[in-house]
Amino acid sequence: MNKLPAKLEKEQFLEKDEFKWLLENNTPELRADLSNRAKRVAGEIFGNGVYVRGLIEFSNYCKNDCYYCGIRCGNEQAHRYRLSEQEILDCCAIGYDLGFRTFVLQGGEDPDFSDEMMIKLIGKIRSDYDDCAITLSLGERPRAVYEAFFTAGANRYLLRHETASAEHYRKLHPRELRLENRKECLTHLKEIGFQVGTGFMVGSPHQTVENLVADLLFTKELNPQMIGIGPFIPHQHTPYKDAKAGTLEETLLLISILRLMLPKALIPATTALGTIDPNGREAGILAGANVVMPNLSPVSVRKDYSLYDNKICTGDEAAECRVCLSNRMKGIGYEILTHRGDYPKD
Ligand code: SAM
Ligand code: FES
Repeated sequence: MNKLPAKLEKEQFLEKDEFKWLLENNTPELRADLSNRAKRVAGEIFGNGVYVRGLIEFSNYCKNDCYYCGIRCGNEQAHRYRLSEQEILDCCAIGYDLGFRTFVLQGGEDPDFSDEMMIKLIGKIRSDYDDCAITLSLGERPRAVYEAFFTAGANRYLLRHETASAEHYRKLHPRELRLENRKECLTHLKEIGFQVGTGFMVGSPHQTVENLVADLLFTKELNPQMIGIGPFIPHQHTPYKDAKAGTLEETLLLISILRLMLPKALIPATTALGTIDPNGREAGILAGANVVMPNLSPVSVRKDYSLYDNKICTGDEAAECRVCLSNRMKGIGYEILTHRGDYPKD
């Protein structure tokens, strides 16, 4: 039996070469060993509970041109939309009635949805739902703006670093987007007091094993409360339309490794994982994830928030993602919990 999974569980860390070895020897046996340990570690902290977050994708306008992303500004074929404040509040009301106690506001970096509008919206949600967590996923902003979001009542912020290797970052993004800025934003968010999420795509174009090891080391060093990873999936109207998608197997291996490195982290089984495999989200939970994020956006706009091709939960059948996911979790012996699901206290 390979000794690295036991060492990782005990020490919550490995040498670079050891991480590399795990990634290069991703056999079903190794995955089973890591996922059994990761599931046990998650179970000791979260039991068989899965936290749920209501995802509101409120705008697909974006000023950035990330080469992998379907809503990048350079995609002239994207059908753009922006929800009004009232439409977003209606999503929250529906979500609250369905039992959601975390709302995740995610969007492209939409210059017409100003910081002032966002601050007002956060304040409104905070005053209407004082028992809910507000999570933002709005990309890079100046520190003062993050502070204003926090003061208005936001609690958590998701900002994937995407890749911790500067050279790889440059292959995925245009020149004006810099890894250093991304990292600085993450530092600011932590200092301000947000529960912070970072993460990366698995199998993104040009990614090497060394890049993934760097992602693991960066994540450990940042020590975030949330970690979002999912497979890269090509989008037909991007420069990387012909690139290969990331695999289920590699994503599951990394979820298990991350759970063993950061036992208390909130780790979602992402929609992208459910897109590359019909049972991807269940497999993610069984590999050590403990969060699901059903879509609360109006069904009429869901297909337009198209980050990658064939995204699930965009058709009429997906109006009730919450019930669907609840049944899926029951099917593997887990139960969706309807409280805020904050990062566990020491
Ligand atoms: N604008 C915010 C930001 O940049 O953090 C939030 C929206 S952004 C679309 C959310 C995440 O989608 C990104 O962090 C990226 O990892 C993921 N994403 C974008 N394109 C993707 C693709 N083709 N495949 C898988 N994930 C993708
Ligand atoms: Fe959206 Fe199942 S989770 S349709």
